Amino acid sequence: MSILIKNGRIITAADDYRADILIEGEKISAIGHNLSVPGAMEIDASDRLVFPGGIDPHVHLDMPFMGTFSSDDYESGTRAALHGGTTMVIDFVLQTQGDSLYSALKTWQQKSEGKALGDYSYHMAITDFNEHTRKELKPLIEEEGITSFKTFMAYKGALMIDDGQMVDLMQEVKKLGGMVTVHATNGDMIDKLIAKHRAEGKLSPLYHYLSQPEITEAEASGRFVDMAWYTGVPAYIVHLTCEGALNQVRDASKRNQKVFVETCIQYLLLDASLYEKDFEGAKWVMSPPLRQPKDQQTLWAGINQGLVQVVATDHCPFMWEQKQMGRNDFSKIPNGHPALEHRMELLFSEGVHKGRISPNTFVAVSSTNAAKIFGMYPRKGCIAVGADADLVIFDPNHRHTLSANTHHMKVDYSAYEGWEVTGKCETVLLRGKVAIDKGEVLVEKGYGQFIKRAKVSKVV
Ligand code: URP
Ligand code: ZN
Ligand code: ZN
Repeated sequence: MSILIKNGRIITAADDYRADILIEGEKISAIGHNLSVPGAMEIDASDRLVFPGGIDPHVHLDMPFMGTFSSDDYESGTRAALHGGTTMVIDFVLQTQGDSLYSALKTWQQKSEGKALGDYSYHMAITDFNEHTRKELKPLIEEEGITSFKTFMAYKGALMIDDGQMVDLMQEVKKLGGMVTVHATNGDMIDKLIAKHRAEGKLSPLYHYLSQPEITEAEASGRFVDMAWYTGVPAYIVHLTCEGALNQVRDASKRNQKVFVETCIQYLLLDASLYEKDFEGAKWVMSPPLRQPKDQQTLWAGINQGLVQVVATDHCPFMWEQKQMGRNDFSKIPNGHPALEHRMELLFSEGVHKGRISPNTFVAVSSTNAAKIFGMYPRKGCIAVGADADLVIFDPNHRHTLSANTHHMKVDYSAYEGWEVTGKCETVLLRGKVAIDKGEVLVEKGYGQFIKRAKVSKVV
């Protein structure tokens, strides 16, 4: 059946106008005034905003990490994402050191196939770049549609690669038309600080924060930016948190180098004072850690300056019981926090409603730029004839309160308990189907599709 969304205020990364949207099958087939289609299901969007479905390009679903697994799997995670207007996520396939990329891919396919409610793709995390791995890159890009390769400059012994491997990988990926992304913090320096704090008996969550000072991120970001400049590879820094790191990217722009930057909703809204709450601070133990108010200001400004193109979540939830693994030692607290469901509403409320960013910028950083950078535009991330009908019908005045009692993520606390939010995702469509309507889920598990991505990242 066709769907006709009537008279909504359509917001894209570039435009803001009132029109009707006709959906036939999975696609948008017409946009215009006074459209009328006999037999179409009509949705009145007169007092509503209509924007493209959100894309969160940084999530960890069912991920093995620090001796446990992140608690949201593909079913619960993508369902929660849809509730919050995110119609597509990009997760990370993690290579096991010593093993192949394809065997890791198979593991992630088993985690996701038939389970996801929302659309998804993968970044491939390279934790061991060797001659065998090198040969796997081309088929991954050309046959699997996995065109972005994640690297870690921290988590030594598990995920980290050294600078030699980094440059080697960058040269290969550049040749093949892909992109290298990075968790940019200085792993050796952090390990040293962790060891020092533990030896001094400083074991509370506060010392997680104090083991990863701003300089550890600024230094690694600068090093990554320089290696990307040397090799010429398209480059993207994930979860950038602070002024020092963003200044490295700002400086690189003076030599006409473009490095894409993602921050996450928590780094815009929360700060390191949360680590002073004794063990409750474990809820926000993540890497990099939350920073200072001056860093939040830098990041909001960075969005408006075009230096930060994407606001993701790094959604990596753990049950409170799992966080207890580090009750007596901060270095054993599983790193990560839950945010996937709330990213769009928090960003709208704190960003648009409070006047920090425009509605167009909101759409750009929550959806369009990720689609462009990661090779999915204009199928995803826009409202245009021929695009997938991934749409959010949004009530900008609906006030509500976030809580673990009402959220849909599989985690028994909220990192945003009691936050008052203005604006609610009322109806969410994914590829032409109403997926969420006023809190009710209308798609089944298995509806979510793997989306193959193209090589070229469009300039944002
Ligand atoms: O604390 C975090 N960020 N956990 C997930 C792994 C990562 O570094 O992104
Ligand atoms: Zn990371
Ligand atoms: Zn992550």
